[in-house]
Amino acid sequence: MWNIDTKYREEFQSTFERLYYKMAVLKKSRPLPNIALQKIKESLSVEWTYNSNSIEGNTLTLQETQMVLQEGITVKGKSLREHFEAKNHEKAINYLFSIVDDSYEIRAIDILSIHSLVLNMIEEDFAGRIRNGGVRISGANFVPPNANKVSDFLDELIDFVNTNPMQLNDIELATIFHHKFVWIHPFFDGNGRTVRLAMNLLLMRKGFPPAIILSNDRKKYYEALNQANNGNYQKLMLLMCQAQERTLNIYLSSLPDNDYDFQEISNIVNEPNSPYSQEYVSLLARQGKIDAHKEGRNWYTTKKAIEDYIENRQRKRNIS
Ligand SMILES: Nc1ncnc2c1ncn2[C@@H]1O[C@H](COP(=O)(O)OP(=O)(O)OP(=O)(O)O)[C@@H](O)[C@H]1O
Ligand SMILES: [Mg+2]
Repeated sequence: MWNIDTKYREEFQSTFERLYYKMAVLKKSRPLPNIALQKIKESLSVEWTYNSNSIEGNTLTLQETQMVLQEGITVKGKSLREHFEAKNHEKAINYLFSIVDDSYEIRAIDILSIHSLVLNMIEEDFAGRIRNGGVRISGANFVPPNANKVSDFLDELIDFVNTNPMQLNDIELATIFHHKFVWIHPFFDGNGRTVRLAMNLLLMRKGFPPAIILSNDRKKYYEALNQANNGNYQKLMLLMCQAQERTLNIYLSSLPDNDYDFQEISNIVNEPNSPYSQEYVSLLARQGKIDAHKEGRNWYTTKKAIEDYIENRQRKRNIS
């Protein structure tokens, strides 16, 4: 079951290198100014909660989520359940931060604890409990395994990420974990939210900031999972790399004297004398060929990222 087809690898080599480079820059520059760090952490916590719950159907907006979490406000017209989901998710994030240093090995109990926090006060009967019956995922191209196999599969998956027999890098490992986990679908509900938390335990313990799958990308995310079910990890890997790069960039931009001047693509290409078209640069961004990330519906990149890409391509041409 855990024989992973790594044919995506060649295409992602330079992206992986860039992510590791950025993480190293971040690590070297720590400690960041405390206030700045705290601010980023809080705003990522809100974003992460908003996006993960929104993927699952929660209708609180980003701003409403911020009000619920940071100001303790109750939003008119939104259900009690939706409020609980936001608060629960924040508690689960705090739990992750509390165990991230000493949880070198992922344990089943950590995953059950995360799940239990996610469904606390909402689905008490299922919180922290592995399913004992069949489930279906609507829109999926497969049926998750029989309930009596779940526990063994889960142990196998945990063993896989702890022993890492294929020597995958941390991003690959988190991506495979993400997919295999929802393939197993260990719980009746809350699998998505739980895995989007647990995969970040894998990344955060290695010094990466949390990777946040955006609600705007929900359709792409589900398609990517369907492809992964067929053994093709290309799309999911791209989504994960983009999610990781976005939060890395957020941290890097907060460093004093950083040269990560991210701007909307339209701003860069609309400068007088810009030799690039918006379509071309957007395509490079979406394909993960340049250092870029998405905020809302817009892509952000740096002039340097575009220049580096062009120069690199020129060099390759000259060689061949
Ligand atoms: N085609 C698919 N193959 C495998 N997993 C899938 C597929 N489509 C969706 N999933 C996963 O299943 C999750 C939904 O499972 P479940 O409803 O138990 O979780 P949830 O937390 O309640 O909701 P959500 O995951 O939407 O936040 C999705 O988030 C996604 O991670
Ligand atoms: Mg659900």
